[in-house]
Amino acid sequence: MTKPIILTGDRPTGKLHLGHYVGSLKNRVRLQNEDKYQLFVFLADQQALTDHAKDSEIIKESIGNVALDYLSVGLDPKKSTLFIQSQIPELAELTMYYMNLVSLARLERNPTVKSEIAQKGFGESIPTGFLVYPISQAADITAFKANLVPVGNDQKPMIEQTREIVRSFNHTYKTTCLVEPEGIYPSSAGAGRLPGLDGNAKMSKSLGNGIYLSDDMDTVRKKVMSMYTDPNHIKVEDPGQIEGNMVFHYLDIFARKEDLAEVQAMKEHYQRGGLGDVKTKRYLLDILERELAPIHERRLDYAKDMGEVFHMLDQGSQAAQAVAAKTLSEVKAAMGINYF
Ligand code: TRP
Repeated sequence: MTKPIILTGDRPTGKLHLGHYVGSLKNRVRLQNEDKYQLFVFLADQQALTDHAKDSEIIKESIGNVALDYLSVGLDPKKSTLFIQSQIPELAELTMYYMNLVSLARLERNPTVKSEIAQKGFGESIPTGFLVYPISQAADITAFKANLVPVGNDQKPMIEQTREIVRSFNHTYKTTCLVEPEGIYPSSAGAGRLPGLDGNAKMSKSLGNGIYLSDDMDTVRKKVMSMYTDPNHIKVEDPGQIEGNMVFHYLDIFARKEDLAEVQAMKEHYQRGGLGDVKTKRYLLDILERELAPIHERRLDYAKDMGEVFHMLDQGSQAAQAVAAKTLSEVKAAMGINYF
């Protein structure tokens, strides 16, 4: 029996942080190691270009960084296909055909695209490629006949649009060659989103409130020591608040089963008074170091030979291209444009 196919990707517009790690990377590694699925993970550089056309250097730089992020968390090119979107021209060709099945009004209604447009301040100059990127995302997903697409909640409209395109294509050309994917979303509202060190709801590059997977332990230490706690907890003996206190929030996320009793005791002590922030931060640092140590070790190892990292991406891209080419030929046959 063939294994269900999982596909997911990231825009390479910066290095990945702990928010990406708890929100999706960790889950991908788990799925990879369950050995029940075939995984495709890719760098969506063409999608990144839809809003970075004029500063593409950041994309080139991020390809290497994000590839190292992937490898360091444990994505394994022997088990998963890791590739770069722009190296698969079949994806652009599929996009071309799908565009004819989607109205402009439907694209303009996509809520994620709508809010991104407002956020990015394109004004009257929305790049056509940007408006169309959900169609290109449908090409990414369908080229590999993905059954499952693990993504954040903000990607729901993309999955929905992909499903519509699949139904429309299969119906229009009387075929079953495209597969309708299912999204896999974070299990609870909080699960998919790690707040920033400063207590902001989102860890993000632009807010400068993140811990990157590539930060060394010295940097992590400094960042943890600057975390937002309880501003009213001034003297050690004052009772402190754990709600909204980022140290305890992170402990809830990163503590393992065997730590839970200690975390609970610390919470009670903190609320009672007598437990200082530096102590809670040191404890969190130990917990983070345990999680990050193997990640840092793998990163150092892979970073020694970036040539090898790019070779791996090249191999992955070639393997991915073979799959996409097969789907494209089925698509063209269904449309009746396989002339020779
Ligand atoms: N839009 C996704 C994001 O911003 C990245 C992406 C592009 C993607 N193509 C995809 C995710 C296909 C899943 C499947 O995070």
